[in-house]
Amino acid sequence: MRDEPLVLGIETSCDETGVGIVRGHTLLADALASSVDQHARFGGVVPEVASRAHLEALVPTMQRALDEAGVTLADVDAIAVTSGPGLAGALLVGVAAAKGYALAAEKPIYGVNHLAAHVAVDTLEHGPLPEPAVAMLVSGGHSSLLLVDDLTAGVTPLGATIDDAAGEAFDKVARLLGLGFPGGPIIDRSAREGDPGSIAFPRGLTAPKDLVAHRFDFSFSGLKTAVARWVESRERAGEPVPVADVSASFQEAVCDVLTAKAIDACRSNGVGTLVIGGGVAANSRLRVLAEERAAKHGITVRVPRPGLCTDNGAMVAALGSHLVAAGVAPSRLDLPADSAMRLTEVSVPG
Ligand code: KG4
Ligand code: ZN
Repeated sequence: MRDEPLVLGIETSCDETGVGIVRGHTLLADALASSVDQHARFGGVVPEVASRAHLEALVPTMQRALDEAGVTLADVDAIAVTSGPGLAGALLVGVAAAKGYALAAEKPIYGVNHLAAHVAVDTLEHGPLPEPAVAMLVSGGHSSLLLVDDLTAGVTPLGATIDDAAGEAFDKVARLLGLGFPGGPIIDRSAREGDPGSIAFPRGLTAPKDLVAHRFDFSFSGLKTAVARWVESRERAGEPVPVADVSASFQEAVCDVLTAKAIDACRSNGVGTLVIGGGVAANSRLRVLAEERAAKHGITVRVPRPGLCTDNGAMVAALGSHLVAAGVAPSRLDLPADSAMRLTEVSVPG
């Protein structure tokens, strides 16, 4: 279907330089360069290192994406770029590059919201998103539940973490277990060898008194501290730390709370579709538990394949394509890199 818009998306909000190309809902290219290895020894993403890596990777990643899709910049109908939220310097590299390409090739530009792009990417695998839907975004920087009535117009926040993000909790727990960075995939693997019922870690904001004010909010900082205390007490007693059991029990606590609140959000809003996005959506236990619990209530779960859950350019292109198809006006060429871009803003207005 050649009438559908050909959209190129650029992502540089954190440590992945991504350039994706889509036609309508069809993914044509998804080129990625990661600086994750350069951050590993610091145990977290170092903003200045990330910005420099984006600068070096952007042009070659762009070229790879165009080659992979077999198109030139002249063929593209619009360029989308992550305007925010994210690391200011990192965002600036992508936004400046997108402006340069848009100006040189005389293409419309869309500055888009990274979190909305994590929702939109699912359309590349499962087609148009039924609306309304509930979206759960779980990444290194965010954990939110959103009501999506119309993805082009903005989303309604239902709740969010009041302290650490889910991915951040995975990264911190992996660090205290000496497992490396980023922690999510490592804990996911380690947990497969462990017993998720071996240690009873706390489920934040699930007590009846917390549900009054924080029904759809999350808290993972107490869980992280509980894991740290448990590990310390073992070490003080001179006993070995059962890493796989700690990983599995911690992961179970996170996934239990995330899925319970997501299903509750669907049911209380009368919504039959739950879409999960962001790096933590790659978690194998989260995917299984969400399916199991949703099925009991006739709710359909949509989660993209793990490679599309973590940051990439395809998600930005997918949201751009959705905006073009809906006739949303492009952004102005002086669009900002907005590190604190709000969820209610899906794209930078024209
Ligand atoms: O969405 P993302 O790639 O970047 C942000 O926008 O933050 O998410 C990265 C986060 C990291 O905290 C990483 O540990 C977590 O996603 N993550 C996972 C898994 N894969 C990545 N967490 C749990 N299980 C995984 N398999
Ligand atoms: Zn992300």
